[in-house]
Parts: sequence; C-alpha cells; structure tokens
Amino acid sequence: MFNTFFPHEYIDSTYQIDFRRYYNQGYRGIVFDIDNTLVPHNADADDRAVALFQKLRKIGFSTCLLSNNKESRVQRFNEQIQSEYVFKAGKPLRRGYEQALEKLGTTRETTLFIGDQLFTDVWGAKRIGIHCILVKPMNPKEEIQIVLKRYLEKLVLHFYLKQPNIVLIGFMGSGKSTVGRALAEHMQYAFLDTDSYIEAREGMTIPEIFEQKGESYFRELETTVLHELLKNTHNTIVATGGGLPLAKENSNLLSQLGIVVYLKAGEDTIYNRVKDSGNRPLLQVENPRQRIRELLAKRDGIYENVSDEVLVTDSLTIDQVIGKIRKLV
Ligand code: S3P
Repeated sequence: MFNTFFPHEYIDSTYQIDFRRYYNQGYRGIVFDIDNTLVPHNADADDRAVALFQKLRKIGFSTCLLSNNKESRVQRFNEQIQSEYVFKAGKPLRRGYEQALEKLGTTRETTLFIGDQLFTDVWGAKRIGIHCILVKPMNPKEEIQIVLKRYLEKLVLHFYLKQPNIVLIGFMGSGKSTVGRALAEHMQYAFLDTDSYIEAREGMTIPEIFEQKGESYFRELETTVLHELLKNTHNTIVATGGGLPLAKENSNLLSQLGIVVYLKAGEDTIYNRVKDSGNRPLLQVENPRQRIRELLAKRDGIYENVSDEVLVTDSLTIDQVIGKIRKLV
C-alpha cells in the first residue's frame, strides 16, 4: 500500500555509507538533501561534511545538493563544500531532480539520492527512478510541520520494516540472480546480489579474489557481508552466491535476514546454464559436469536444511517461479 514511499535502502547515517562500493557498482553522481541528512537543521557545513565531499570528489563522484529551502540557506551550507546545487527544488516534484541530473551530467541509473524524509526526498527520487537511500534524521528537535509528518513517516516505516526480505539460495546457475531481479521488479523491492556486492566492496571480480586472495578469504567475506546486510537491508530480494549457505554461521545469519527460498535445479539444467560462463572459479576444471555432480551431492542437503521453502525449478518459467514465491509472502 505504501510501496511508493519505500526507499531502496535505509541506513542510520549518511556518514556510514560505503560510497566507494557504490562507485564500483557504476554510480557516478550523488544528489543530497541538506538539512538533517548532512548537518542538523539549518546548520552550516561542519568539518565532517566538508571532509565527506572532499572524499567523494577524490573517488570520482559529482555531487548536487537538492533543497526545498531558499538560495541563501543553500549557499551558506555550500560555502566550503563547493558542490552543484538546486534550491527551492519543490521536492517531491520531478523538476528539481531533473535539474540536479542535468547539473551532474549523469543518468537515472548512475545516480544515487540520499535524504531523510519519506514524503519529499524519497517519494521524489522514486518518482524519477533514482536509487534512493533514506537516512535517519540527524536532529530530533524539528519544526512543528515536520514533527507532524514524522508521525506519518513512522507509520510507513513500520510497514516497510515489517515486510520480510526474500533470500534466494541454491547452486551456481540455479537462477537466483535472474529470478531475483524479476521478482524485485514485480514486488517493487530492491535487489541485491551478494557476489556483486562483494565485487563492488573489494573493487575486484570474483575470479580475481579467488586467484589473488584465495577461496577462504572469499568465504570470510561472505560472512562479513551477511553481517553488514543484517544491519540495514529491508524490502529486498537477496540473491546469494552458491557456496554462501555452507558455513554454519551463515545459515543462522540467512534465517535472520529473511525468508530463505532454495531454488533447486538438477545437474543437467545447471550444466547447460553454466557451461559457457568463465566467471565461476570452482568450475574451471577439466570435467565441470563431474564437479557439478560432486558439489551438488555435498550441498543439496545443506541448502534444504537452511531454507524455509524448496522450489524445484527445472521445468518452471521465471514467471511461474515468481508466482510460487509470491504466495509465500
Ligand atoms: C560459488 C558460487 C558463485 C560465486 C563463487 C563461488 C560457489 O556464485 O559466489 O564463484 O561456491 O558455488 P553463483 O552461485 O551466483 O554463481
């Protein structure tokens, strides 16, 4: 019912965001709300804010401030920040966001939005189709009209936080990412793939990580990432790497993260799907089919134990799989 107002992510503070990871994912521009997102309401830019924008510039981001406030307020904040800005933006109307994109020279796909209010910041960003991160407001003391809005926000956030994540597990090539992406679109959820998350976090591909740091390093990363996701992942379809559920610690973490669905596929289906892909280090062997058979025999029982639901997908279309998962939520 309130999906329109649901952010893609909900994080405690702007200053906790791992911006380099987003850069590695392909984002190049960031649109920021100012008040209560970067500094307390009406405050000047402090050292932390100045340092953040310096860091963002160094990473390679372009930035734009997007404020409903008047120009003098925005200019005062921007004195030491030196970012592009749009004032009297009229959020949640589209036009301010469009102006910001123009100033940044980025596209909807390569731009992030960060703000603290649902009915202005997030709603507008969702309307225009930018990935948006909601942060908790910095200043608990707010103007009266905002205090009223916060009550309604609380209600929407209650529903947002109540909806469970859906976690897809299963063997390489079982369709976790393909189904996950389609399901996320269908349910208006965010989508997150743990392999892509790890690649962006490390700035390396999975084969590079295996080659340069070793498989055990990769496995430790999978656990670290699960801990990170547990802190702030909501309303999200999570597709996991095929080996992630195997560690005992991870199976508990997965259950905490959401409803765990095992997409089960047989040896033939898997072999046909993965035989031409070169990005799975575990299958770069002389006889990949035999390797699949051996790994499947080891893993199938574990996947079944870890999951809340098993879906045999060999003869199902993506839409059929989605239909079955939807019935679970
Ligand atoms: C692995 C599966 C891969 C990736 C890594 C190891 C595994 O993910 O995490 O190559 O151990 O099964 P996909 O299942 O997305 O291919």
